[in-house]
Amino acid sequence: MADKSTIDVTHLHGPALQAAVDLVAFVSFGDPTKDSIFKLADHALGGVLADVARTESFEGKTGQAITVHTHGKLPARRVMVVGGGPRGEFANPNIRDLAAIVAQAANKAGAATVAFLLPQLSGNREAALVQMTAEGVALGTYKFGRYLTGEDHKRPTALKTFGVLTDLKGKKPTVTQTKAFTAAATRGTTIANAINHARNLINEPAAVVTPSALAADAQAIAKKHKGSVSVTILDPKKCAELGMGMFLAVGQGSDQEARFIHMTYKPAKKPKKRICFIGKGVTFDSGGYSLKPSQSMEDMKVDMSGAAAVISAMDAIATIGADHEIHVVAACCENLVSGRAYKLGDVLTSMDGTTVEINNTDAEGRLTLGDAITYARTKIQPDEMFDFATLTGACMVALGPYTAGVMSDHEALLRGWMATAERTGEDMWRLPLNGRLREQLKSPIADMRNTGDRFGGAITAGLFLKTFAKDTPWVHVDIAGPASLTSTRPSQPKGGTGFAVATIVEYATR
Ligand code: BES
Ligand code: MN
Ligand code: ZN
Repeated sequence: MADKSTIDVTHLHGPALQAAVDLVAFVSFGDPTKDSIFKLADHALGGVLADVARTESFEGKTGQAITVHTHGKLPARRVMVVGGGPRGEFANPNIRDLAAIVAQAANKAGAATVAFLLPQLSGNREAALVQMTAEGVALGTYKFGRYLTGEDHKRPTALKTFGVLTDLKGKKPTVTQTKAFTAAATRGTTIANAINHARNLINEPAAVVTPSALAADAQAIAKKHKGSVSVTILDPKKCAELGMGMFLAVGQGSDQEARFIHMTYKPAKKPKKRICFIGKGVTFDSGGYSLKPSQSMEDMKVDMSGAAAVISAMDAIATIGADHEIHVVAACCENLVSGRAYKLGDVLTSMDGTTVEINNTDAEGRLTLGDAITYARTKIQPDEMFDFATLTGACMVALGPYTAGVMSDHEALLRGWMATAERTGEDMWRLPLNGRLREQLKSPIADMRNTGDRFGGAITAGLFLKTFAKDTPWVHVDIAGPASLTSTRPSQPKGGTGFAVATIVEYATR
């Protein structure tokens, strides 16, 4: 799976309008004619830029863009202006979409070299902006084209070098700053490559990304980081020895054997904390005997997005390096129907001994995760653990398709996580783990049943998982909405998004 961006993102310094590139781009916040660089460029071009802005109603609104040829009046062959919206509302992650717009325009225009001037914003935001620009370039030029046979999908893309220009109010960057900017560009590309890798895993059909394929992917990442990352793959026999009755039941209806993945990153120095990231890895969710209607089943290859996120994030974490011992766990299987599949009314015994009556085989994610959480809690004993799961349609009903639902009863851990998500720009919102809803999970014949009522469905799923997390600090992130999208933004085409990778990497490496 090719997912390395072939575009070099470099740091440049100097006056933007002297850059001898195929395309020079800058941001305009609102009315472009009030922008000093716009005025300079317009002057050099004899008023053409302002003309085009007027006739194309370019007002510097988010995502708007104009491009003009310079006809030798500037060293660059084209000048592009992208709208940034109101300056006061501009958050660092917004730069991803702008960089994506510029990179896409460069490819379309056949421009191999770009210089993109970072906007002047208050505070020391440059390094973060350089990083997120690099992310936007790789994310915005991502395409899942493996199965497209037309010629235009095979042609190499034009853009080769994307220079990020800093303008530190006329001052030259110090050696330290230059180092920091270069590192930020590398960091951004590393993170975006991991996100694109997750996107590939999600976008591939379930016939390709099987539990074994995910295990092979984890092994390839461990091999790539031989000194720091190791991996253990447990087959169904080994999982049975550990007593993972819930996880194995979900996978038992499939001809694809289940795989339990455990990756470990060890830093060179004594680790500060031990952190575990757990991902739901249902490579296809038919619903089982509580069969999904065809329309709801259509996109259920994405039900391994949590596993894709944590496995892919590990690659970036090992590349960047972390002060913590990082564990990645994914219980991977397929939820299908067959003569061997688990049934409604079955009573399963989980790894921690809790018995669970099945009243819906489509609430399978919490079963796989419950055993994964018990494994993490007892075998890894982390200081902190997080799980990422396309767990409930109810979470999408509550928050819409773009926002993940975050649940935890550990206030400090939750705050740290939410602050990290705020920085990366991944949309997350807390839902209450209201203990009163636990009564929905009562069973007359077992310790619990696996499904509650319709109302509060995201929360009862969270409460179910909490049973297994016990007192280990834990945060649950329901990514059913944002893991895969049918609408686009410049840095995100339709399909798998790689949601959560950015925040996981940021949390692990800062
Ligand atoms: N994988 C689904 C949740 C899902 C829905 C993910 C839509 C992505 C998009 C999950 O396993 C599921 O089927 N959940 C059920 C739970 C219900 C049976 C309690 C649901 O949300 O309907
Ligand atoms: Mn399901
Ligand atoms: Zn599912």
